[in-house]
Amino acid sequence: MDQVEQTRSEALQALQAASSLEALENVRVATLGKKGSLTGLLKQLGALPVEQRKEFGAKVNVVKAELEQAIEARKTSLQGAELDRKLAEERIDVTLPARPLRQGFIHPISQTIDEIVAIFGDMGFVWADGPDIEDDWHNFTALNIPPEHPARQMHDTFYLPPREDGTPMLLRTHTSPVQVRSMVSQKPPIRIIVPGRTFRMDSDVTHTPMFHQVEGLVIDEATHMGHLKGCLQEFAKAYFEVSELPIRFRPSYFPFTEPSAEVDIGCSWSNGELKIGAGDSWLEILGCGMVHPKVLEYCGVDPTKYQGFAFGMGIERIAMLKYGIPDLRTFFESDLRWLRHYGFAALDVPSLTGGLSR
Ligand code: PHE
Repeated sequence: MDQVEQTRSEALQALQAASSLEALENVRVATLGKKGSLTGLLKQLGALPVEQRKEFGAKVNVVKAELEQAIEARKTSLQGAELDRKLAEERIDVTLPARPLRQGFIHPISQTIDEIVAIFGDMGFVWADGPDIEDDWHNFTALNIPPEHPARQMHDTFYLPPREDGTPMLLRTHTSPVQVRSMVSQKPPIRIIVPGRTFRMDSDVTHTPMFHQVEGLVIDEATHMGHLKGCLQEFAKAYFEVSELPIRFRPSYFPFTEPSAEVDIGCSWSNGELKIGAGDSWLEILGCGMVHPKVLEYCGVDPTKYQGFAFGMGIERIAMLKYGIPDLRTFFESDLRWLRHYGFAALDVPSLTGGLSR
């Protein structure tokens, strides 16, 4: 076999063996490239005797054309195989159902706060807030709980290092200090609703060290117990979405209100299931009273001219009652399964008359 024929058959063999486009390109370079085997033969042309040149050159050129064609054909077939492989590998099954978009959920605490604020907003209350870290004066003293007062022991307080000027600091044990802040900073009439975090050193089945309260405060010239009662009655009906809801005021004691009361709503139990509404049982939902004249004085409000009422409610508690959530601690465990079960869709906005506009 002459040199040309040998180069041809080697190249043809190699390009049939090339199983990828990359391997084929290597064959092309090794044959037809600058330093390729066939190109090498052409370079020998000049060294040949004149009479052989023509014939040899023509032969090499024929082989060259043949190989170029063969490479092109092999390339097309490899590209086809590559496409088939990709199509098989990346097959999309358009009949598969779409993956659902996971929706976020509103935590029951946020939902309950929104509902409460909407209901009181409808009655003319405005939202207010204060800091979680309070000083002793706002949390206790101005609320008529002076330093040695036994009522301080009712609150298991988390104390913080005092301020540089010696002011004792703490995590607020209730939302009532916002009453003080509002009276100090604005002139009556005042009508505020204050949802927020509160803290007590307490942890068992029915207590968590952090929990939520909502405070209400009304200060005006002729406010009396009847207003307090009517306001809370309207709230309870709207919040629990029960049109006939008996409400009972039980005498109680808070240093910052006089008289003070605890409020119960009617309910009944059947087969261990709670039903809110007229029934043979009562459930406590909040504490309230007429703002103590001493508190008004502490806050710079003239008690001979102004009176007011205040109330404070545990948010987890009334959320548990309305939505049938049995365990307080689950509110703060961040268990997504719990949130999916008890949470609310983002687009369910509370209506002004309470409840959800589904
Ligand atoms: N601050 C009281 C508590 O935490 C509740 C309350 C608020 C009572 C306002 C009367 C008036 O228990």
